[in-house]
Amino acid sequence: ATTHRIALIPGDGIGNEVIPAARRVLDAVAARHGLGFSYETFDWSCERYADLGAMMPDDGLDRLRGHDAILLGAVGYPGVPDHVSLWGLLIPIRRGFQQYVNLRPIRVFEGVPSPLRDAGPGDVDLVVVRENVEGEYGEIGGRLGRGLPEEMAVQEAVFTRKGVTRVLDYAFSLAERRGGRLTSATKSNGIVHTMPFWDELVAERAAAHPEVVWDQEHIDALAAKFVLDPRRFDVVVASNLFGDILSDLAAAVAGSIGIAPAANLNPERDFPSMFEPVHGSAPDIAGRGIANPLGAIWSAAMMLDHLGHPEAATHVTDAIATVLAKTPVRTPDLGGTATTEEFTDALLELLSRRP
Ligand code: NAD
Ligand code: IPM
Ligand code: MN
Repeated sequence: ATTHRIALIPGDGIGNEVIPAARRVLDAVAARHGLGFSYETFDWSCERYADLGAMMPDDGLDRLRGHDAILLGAVGYPGVPDHVSLWGLLIPIRRGFQQYVNLRPIRVFEGVPSPLRDAGPGDVDLVVVRENVEGEYGEIGGRLGRGLPEEMAVQEAVFTRKGVTRVLDYAFSLAERRGGRLTSATKSNGIVHTMPFWDELVAERAAAHPEVVWDQEHIDALAAKFVLDPRRFDVVVASNLFGDILSDLAAAVAGSIGIAPAANLNPERDFPSMFEPVHGSAPDIAGRGIANPLGAIWSAAMMLDHLGHPEAATHVTDAIATVLAKTPVRTPDLGGTATTEEFTDALLELLSRRP
């Protein structure tokens, strides 16, 4: 069997708790499906920044380049400003490796109560396709006149025909393979200059994917509909910032942001793709061993799929569904008392039982 070379970047806070859990799951699945993984662990983090003055070495991307995939926990911790940790590690990887699709599926599992009064299993089953390298997260900008009454901060949102078109095509193709419906998150009511351009490109790509039934919603109204009527959504395509917000919202609506996974994809496979939970380093619970590892584990399942092992990926997502439906074991964010390790043990037990 081929051995997949995986770069592990646990990062900060609960990243150090959920990545080991995901690795245990990968090893269990490897044993059952005859897969091979070799891991290289990178200590790139805010701790490294405090010691050495940089989140990762200057040749960080070169060191990752030869890997088949990257599994990341989270970066960012109090004491290091977030713009340092993010522009020093997360954003350079997403951009440098042209991971322009950020795929964020979410669903309500049986056994996980949604905070929505009526939502049950099947009622939330959607994917946010987030543009991941441009948009509102533009590099052009900065702060001027610190401390002066005239002080200001500006940032250019950058939307390019190429950058928007490629993520839209990914989203429309995904909709063709899923339920055939797509919603575009927009803000085209005249204020934001970039969004009418986004809308035009959506209409253009829709014409190239005539089987997909699509619509668009203003982001504010869309946020409300995620809560009021999540059943109507299948694939939701959104710009970088809108997609960021919608993915936490969708995860919360499905029960906990601790569950939600993400795949930062370079669809052309010119560079490694990166898999990471949607959540951050959760300093408020870090070090207590109670983080929900499901976001990281589901992300690892997406990695298995990306590496060409869909049956192994499904084995993991089925085990996730089963442990939630059939056992009371869950972490405190889901109302349980289990530790990260106890929950992972329960999941591994199911993985070893099923064929
Ligand atoms: P967060 O996702 O870390 O935490 C938000 C809330 O959700 C917290 O109350 C936390 O305890 C809870 N939570 C998150 N993940 C959980 C899990 N697996 N199990 C149980 N509860 C969980 O978001 P934040 O507080 O906005 O950010 C904290 C730090 O993480 C910041 O430095 C931020 O920049 C960073 N961050 C990094 C990434 C990333 O690396 N991809 C993503 C988001 C935030
Ligand atoms: C995420 C995170 C990041 C983002 C932050 C930490 C820069 O919130 O991955 O969702 O906004 O992309
Ligand atoms: Mn986010």
